[in-house]
Amino acid sequence: MRTPVIAGNWKLFKTIAESVALINELKPLVANNHGVEIVVAPVFTALSPVCAAIQGSNIRLAAQNCFWEEEGAFTGEVAPKLLKDAGCSHVIIGHSERRQYFGETDLSVNKKTKAAIAARLTAIVCVGETLAERESEQTFSVIEKQVQAGLAGLAVDDFAKVVIAYEPVWAIGTGKTASDAQAQEVHLFIRNLIAGLFNQSIAGAVRILYGGSVKPDNVKGLMAQPDIDGALVGGASLKAESFAAIATFNV
Ligand code: PGA
Repeated sequence: MRTPVIAGNWKLFKTIAESVALINELKPLVANNHGVEIVVAPVFTALSPVCAAIQGSNIRLAAQNCFWEEEGAFTGEVAPKLLKDAGCSHVIIGHSERRQYFGETDLSVNKKTKAAIAARLTAIVCVGETLAERESEQTFSVIEKQVQAGLAGLAVDDFAKVVIAYEPVWAIGTGKTASDAQAQEVHLFIRNLIAGLFNQSIAGAVRILYGGSVKPDNVKGLMAQPDIDGALVGGASLKAESFAAIATFNV
């Protein structure tokens, strides 16, 4: 009942030409897979050309970040409505690299999430613990705080436009995936948290993605877990063949 989402986070990789070439390679490989919401997140400068390249396909477009104001004297920022204007249907918010290198906080995640929803974008809200936090048994308290603060004040209806991504920081770009059971445990925790903070029907419907070294050879095991509804893929999304293999895990 929850449509799986496979999202490729291209991070700071690829020129416009390389981005469009990747899309053109990817399109035929995933064309028949209508059971999965397939999303790619190129750099800002490639959004518009990638939007043109995905026309008529089953691939959807995400930005990797946004600001929370609609317009104003905010040099260097991009508003959700401008992402919509460039063809985005989704936006990634609060990725751990933004938290780590660009001062993203639970408060800014919350403001950005609300602004994205107001612009009718689907917010892919990222949470995840560091290795030190996992080793000191703080995983659940960290996730609880990030989910509670990041989604604070959302209305029940807003959840139609929210996807949560659980990305343990120690698994991102390290080749070290959380085991199926480790991931499932946190996904279930998040779902129960949403049930408590909001309600059971939202908890049952919200898609929770796993991210962190997802590859063609581990996606099936992860997706077989009852509370894992998709993947946010970094490194393996940069090549058409590996991303297509992940995005067609179900066929
Ligand atoms: P990775 O990145 O797949 O390269 O680990 C995941 C992410 O950062 O979203």
